[in-house]
Amino acid sequence: MERELAQGQETGSATETEALGALLAEALAPGDVVLISGELGAGKTTFVRGAARALGVSVPVTSPTFTIGQRYPAAGAVAHVAHVDLYRLASLRDEDPDLLADYVGADTITFVEWPDAGAEELSQVGRIACRVELAHAGEDRRRVTIRQALA
Ligand SMILES: Nc1ncnc2c1ncn2[C@@H]1O[C@H](COP(=O)(O)OP(=O)(O)O)[C@@H](O)[C@H]1O
Ligand SMILES: [Mg+2]
Repeated sequence: MERELAQGQETGSATETEALGALLAEALAPGDVVLISGELGAGKTTFVRGAARALGVSVPVTSPTFTIGQRYPAAGAVAHVAHVDLYRLASLRDEDPDLLADYVGADTITFVEWPDAGAEELSQVGRIACRVELAHAGEDRRRVTIRQALA
């Protein structure tokens, strides 16, 4: 079962999308995995940046380029925030099974862009806490939908 936290909510700037990420961060617990989908430029990384900042990440959050993910020290109950981007992968099935191990764990909150390539593997190693969808809505507007999984 899923509950909608934000349904088709519109943001008018990157800052507003970051703020929604920060709002979601408050509802997350260590071990949670958040799947984030949407087209290129829809604001996935921007959303993660806002969430990561709220979780105590103090270094710049940028898209992982040479690896599938990045792991940042966080603050408080969450030891780490991980940011995974599966854009360049057709499927995690063809990859080393341990590839996700660095990015998902009991002391970590994990955000995954382009999650379709690894949906099955991700749900095996972690708890999918919610799904975020971002869509272009003209110029600087983005529609943001957050669906929270109910345990
Ligand atoms: N409302 C908005 N929400 C998020 N990003 C926005 C918004 N309006 C403009 N932008 C811009 O769109 C781009 C989104 O990039 P990014 O977050 O990297 O997208 P993605 O990771 O989905 O490819 C950034 O340059 C950001 O400043
Ligand atoms: Mg991105």
